[in-house]
Amino acid sequence: MISLTGILVTGIIAIVVYSLFFNKDGKKYPKGPFAWPVIGNGFALKDRPEKTLIEWGKYYGDVFQIYFGKDRAYVVTDLKLAKELFNDTAFSARPNNELFHIFSEGPIGVLNSSGKVWLEQRRFTLRHLRDFGFVRYEQDDPRLWSIFIKNKELSELITRNPFLLFAPNIAKLFPKWSGWNQFLDLAVSMKTIVRGHVEDHRRNTPEDGVPRDFIDAYLKEIESTDDGSSSFYKDAGVQNLTAVIGDLFGAGFETVTLTVSWATLYLVRFQEIQKRFQAELDNVVGRNRFPALADRPLLPFVEATIAESMRLGTIVPLGLFHVADQDAKIRGFDVPKGTWLLCPLYGFHYDEKYFPNPEEFKPERFLSPDGKKFQKHEALVPFAFGKRACLGETLARDEVFLFLTNMFHRYSFIPAPENPKPSLEPTGGFTLAPQDYKVIVTERL
Ligand code: HEM
Repeated sequence: MISLTGILVTGIIAIVVYSLFFNKDGKKYPKGPFAWPVIGNGFALKDRPEKTLIEWGKYYGDVFQIYFGKDRAYVVTDLKLAKELFNDTAFSARPNNELFHIFSEGPIGVLNSSGKVWLEQRRFTLRHLRDFGFVRYEQDDPRLWSIFIKNKELSELITRNPFLLFAPNIAKLFPKWSGWNQFLDLAVSMKTIVRGHVEDHRRNTPEDGVPRDFIDAYLKEIESTDDGSSSFYKDAGVQNLTAVIGDLFGAGFETVTLTVSWATLYLVRFQEIQKRFQAELDNVVGRNRFPALADRPLLPFVEATIAESMRLGTIVPLGLFHVADQDAKIRGFDVPKGTWLLCPLYGFHYDEKYFPNPEEFKPERFLSPDGKKFQKHEALVPFAFGKRACLGETLARDEVFLFLTNMFHRYSFIPAPENPKPSLEPTGGFTLAPQDYKVIVTERL
């Protein structure tokens, strides 16, 4: 009879032989931790993957290699090099990750697409997002809440089941265990809501032909496109529209909510900073009107506090995955076409070299020495950088500013007595969220 030990030993020998002989293709690859065939480094990246990657970076160097399932990925932990690479179109494609395609039925839309489709969709979305925002809702529209809640559930699901993201090929084989089925259900219900929006707009076009919102503008573009190779052409256009709206919901909701939650948490924990934040608002805005975007240049401490909360929160700790769409080289290493590229943003935000005592909440880091001016920092990169940098950055910055200034101008926030020191440790995952905390809100008179 074959013993368990025999199976184990044979398995280990098979793995060693595989990695010794089958990875030798004459190319020069960077070093990296041992990766299991098929599974890759998924297990090691289960909890707080950004911390593990930073530790690996210290050991293996600024450019090292890991595997997501069977996909080779290079991790770049040097900020200057990361910026150079993400500025290069050769590294601006997205992985062909099945998980990302569940929403959009293929690499279309803006978030998960590559090449020509991505260029066309990104350009259009950037231009029109500025004019409209993306969908207009009444505040109590149940669809808004439904999308909001499903989005949150999706992000929590990925957090609980990192295999969904890091090794979808494995996750798919064990659909119940890995959360794959649940993911499909949530994705289908989100897609139904998005399709409903698009159908409403198609049935109900504006009488004067002037777009009311992003979807109208997009449908107009589809109508005026007669180039069959364009991603706006006929049915391809409608599919891309649905994918883009899904992308904007997916990328635009949770991110802003998490950023506001982090900043609120820090202001609750550091009451003296909350007071300074409010004092600056009172000085500049007064008590007789609401804060507005136009006040921003006169509110350096407010801006610095938001910047510092974005740094500490780092809600997208790994950034998003990029892919080389052609053979290339990085620091002398071969980069075969299809290699993933990862620049963990968390590492830059928590680097002593840029932000001494990085765990401390210190808005002054972003002020000029006389305290009168807000100062950007090259290593504060919550929206990433380069050709694929966050498309919603301007909108997100405006939203975060308006939420926080209006909240703290009108109300004060203190911790609830049952938890006077709410934790600053995030719930780990693909996005970093604060743990639930309770506050007492009082109106400022
Ligand atoms: C504070 C809030 C936000 C943060 C921190 C954030 C962060 C990011 C990051 C790190 C990326 C990845 C960039 C890369 O691939 O290298 C990204 C991409 C993206 N974000 Fe945001 N984001 C925020 C809000 C928004 C909002 C409000 C929208 C839209 C309404 C949005 C839409 C997108 C889209 C469409 C992409 C993909 C761009 C592309 O693939 O070309 N984001 N965001």
